[in-house]
Amino acid sequence: MQFDRLVNERYSVRKFTEEPVSDEEIQKILDSIYVAPSGQNKQPLRVWTIRSKDRLEGVKRITKYHYNAPLTIAICAVPEEGWVRKSDGSNHSVVDAAAATMQAWLMAEDIGLGAVWVSDFDTNLQDEIFPEMKGTELVAMLQIGHISPESKPLGWHSKKRDRSEMFFEL
Ligand SMILES: Cc1cc2nc3c(=O)[nH]c(=O)nc-3n(C[C@H](O)[C@H](O)[C@H](O)COP(=O)(O)O)c2cc1C
Repeated sequence: MQFDRLVNERYSVRKFTEEPVSDEEIQKILDSIYVAPSGQNKQPLRVWTIRSKDRLEGVKRITKYHYNAPLTIAICAVPEEGWVRKSDGSNHSVVDAAAATMQAWLMAEDIGLGAVWVSDFDTNLQDEIFPEMKGTELVAMLQIGHISPESKPLGWHSKKRDRSEMFFEL
């Protein structure tokens, strides 16, 4: 899809079909994460593909916002590996994870899938449900799948702040 259309037509998809996401599609999404920019190119990320019935049950336990998607890609930051700005000690690993998440989301859309970024999960359950992620900060659980014909954006998708509140010229 043309990039300006992709950016302007993207919305959070919260209704998926049961059709699985193919290996090729998953690979494309992972590749988009792999080439994402990061502070000082440190790439402080760990990424988990979750698609087995068993582990998707874990996703359902950790968040109610799973939308029965057939695929979750969990994007985690590794703070010890992140670039830290000297002047204020700000660790940028979560920023890097966010940039990678956005690349994955747009790639999913570009190949005809839908996705929603989910951060509202229970962090207290993370170590129990996903012990493999220990020591990382789970930033996003991208719920991905084929878009249901009934899918539509939520009302607030088009509710935008007035541009004058956001954009300034110095
Ligand atoms: C950091 C972040 C966290 C989000 N967490 C959730 C979530 O936990 N559950 C959910 O349904 N949507 C979540 N969303 C999707 C937002 O609700 C959505 O992007 C926003 O309402 C704008 O709608 P749109 O994506 O359709 O344009 C999240 C989005 C971002 C960027």
